Amino acid sequence: MEKRRIVVTSALPYANGDIHIGHLVEYLQTDFWVRFQRMRGNDVCYVCADDTHGTPIMIRARKEGRTPEELVAEMRGRHVRDFADFQMSFDNYYTTNSPENKAFCEDIYAKLEAGGALLHEKVAQLWCPSCGMFLPDRFVKGTCPNCGAPEQYGDSCERCGVTYSPSDLKDAHCATCGSRDLETRETEHILFDLAKFKDYLREWLPEHTQADVANKLREWFGEDQKLLPWDVSRDAPYFGFEIPGHPGKYFYVWLDAPVGYLASLKNWCGKNGHEFDAWWGDPATERYHFIGKDIVRFHCLFWPAMLHAAGYQGPTKVFVHGFLTVNGEKMSKSRGTFVSARTYLDHLDPAFLRYYYACKINNTTDDIDLNLDDFAQRVNSDLVGKITNLASRGAQMLGKRLDGRLGRLDAEGRALVDAARSRAGAVAALYEARKFSQVPIEVCKIADSANEYFDRHAPWKTIKTDPEATRPVLTAVLNLFRVLAIYLSPILPAYAGKAAKLFGESAWSWDSLGETLEDRPIGAYEYLAQRVEADAIAAMVEASKPAETAPAPAPAPAPAPVPAAPAAAVPLKAGIAFAAFDACDLRVGKVESCTAVPKSKKLVRFELDCGPLGHRTVFSGIRSAYPDPSVLDGKQVVFVANLAPREMKGVGVSEGMVLTAGDPATGLAVLTTLAPVNPGDPAC
Ligand code: 2FM
Ligand code: ZN
Repeated sequence: MEKRRIVVTSALPYANGDIHIGHLVEYLQTDFWVRFQRMRGNDVCYVCADDTHGTPIMIRARKEGRTPEELVAEMRGRHVRDFADFQMSFDNYYTTNSPENKAFCEDIYAKLEAGGALLHEKVAQLWCPSCGMFLPDRFVKGTCPNCGAPEQYGDSCERCGVTYSPSDLKDAHCATCGSRDLETRETEHILFDLAKFKDYLREWLPEHTQADVANKLREWFGEDQKLLPWDVSRDAPYFGFEIPGHPGKYFYVWLDAPVGYLASLKNWCGKNGHEFDAWWGDPATERYHFIGKDIVRFHCLFWPAMLHAAGYQGPTKVFVHGFLTVNGEKMSKSRGTFVSARTYLDHLDPAFLRYYYACKINNTTDDIDLNLDDFAQRVNSDLVGKITNLASRGAQMLGKRLDGRLGRLDAEGRALVDAARSRAGAVAALYEARKFSQVPIEVCKIADSANEYFDRHAPWKTIKTDPEATRPVLTAVLNLFRVLAIYLSPILPAYAGKAAKLFGESAWSWDSLGETLEDRPIGAYEYLAQRVEADAIAAMVEASKPAETAPAPAPAPAPAPVPAAPAAAVPLKAGIAFAAFDACDLRVGKVESCTAVPKSKKLVRFELDCGPLGHRTVFSGIRSAYPDPSVLDGKQVVFVANLAPREMKGVGVSEGMVLTAGDPATGLAVLTTLAPVNPGDPAC
């Protein structure tokens, strides 16, 4: 089959917030698809970036007393770390605040201007004299002119749903500084004349996105909404790119954000010796955007029209997905269901969410529900109980009793393995069509037949009476598991990596399905997945609630049997499972200060600079070993970063555990690093 060249993007996350499990619906499905395409041998470049510009970021940076550049650099670090821990496989993760993006914006703008696609119009807008800026709609608040609800935003009322312009609000005031002395000022804006591209878009839409999306967007072509000109400029002060020839005017963030896809690709091309034009510019290249249904008009109207007008290739398809609900309701901070990626990772294995989302996501715009009971049930009964158990039982028995060597398949085993393999085309078609939810169904069907075969042959009995007769059974079960693990590879890459290692193989491609493993040794069984405990889910939900409404902390921190914070030392208990140790996220923190806790004989308080993890306060019961704790100031210490925060009675919240070694009575010492490293870096 001919190799395809494919550019894939996920929507660029705003740099003013952390990644959460709602965002991950999109990132994970894109990653499933991209990894599948790579396994098929296609040339894929998957790009993304932080969406850095706009008023909210500028105002937040101002409030925090730093530059927007500093803020976006920190947020990018947080995003990159979250994505890496969720096993995302971007080829390039860039930023929209880049020279490439500026150059593309300027080029596209010049072409739009030259092609007569821009309008210059005077627009009246509210101005806050005390902030010295024009106020975007969401930066004005006041009383709804329709229903009288107080403190509504300048674009629509959250109570009655009516839309209006900010100057219609009663008691309008600046949402940032509260000033009521707002003025209406006229300013020139630059607008993209969307109506010029009506015919182009009418033809473009049905071919380039799902039918329901195209139908919905048709409303924009009707009498009510028309294709009104789109305002693409903003006045200073603004964090973004200044528009050439228009001092004090900036490109609106929604103009430069999708251009950021091109910029990230160009940056990747530069770093990897590729020509941008051979990727985006080649009509044979396939270009796909994965987006949520809230941003379709930007991707299916403005963006294709703009690219067309500027003479660039447009998207091949825009794949639109629905929103996430949790337990059937909108994600909610007070219910603890607005879970950040980091909080999830603090409590649960990322593979579980990857698996569960795969069970739920398909190629439609329907919302998907993360039901937390169903989540535990599917992971425990299917991923662990049905699928992983095949490997753990088969490989451990083969390792212990049959020298870890696969034998030959007998006729029944061969027929089963062939049947499992015969689904390869069907499974590939499901991935290709983004019908991810059907992949685990296919996989579980095969796992059911493998478990039925295993149970019927009762190898745990025959291994005692006739070990050699057991070898073909285990060989079949392990080959069946291998086929399942290959099918699941795009969804569970780390899991598949460990499974491939068990069979002495490196990364699998789709062609690996053609092989049968016989007469060869396998490696030692390494833990692949362990059950989700209800306590861990409950602790994640508790940790996601706002501090003031959170009840007393959950008694046990979530992952594995890690000792509760803060202890004086982590004793190496005989027989601790490697998984328990592996669950500890050990990081390096720089001690900003270490002080004695007043009225406590035992406790000291660490203030740690943890780099991209931010700042942490950690209490530790090591006072007897450090009568003058300030000797630790400036040192780099190793601490466990993924424990649930713990309230220390009357003292504060401990956000980790500093590691120590030795005997508290005779010579306890904090583990410090010898060489300087960056705070927040993994300690091992
Ligand atoms: O809606 C959002 O979160 C935007 N930051 C998405 C931008 S996608 C693309 F246009 F850059
Ligand atoms: Zn103001």
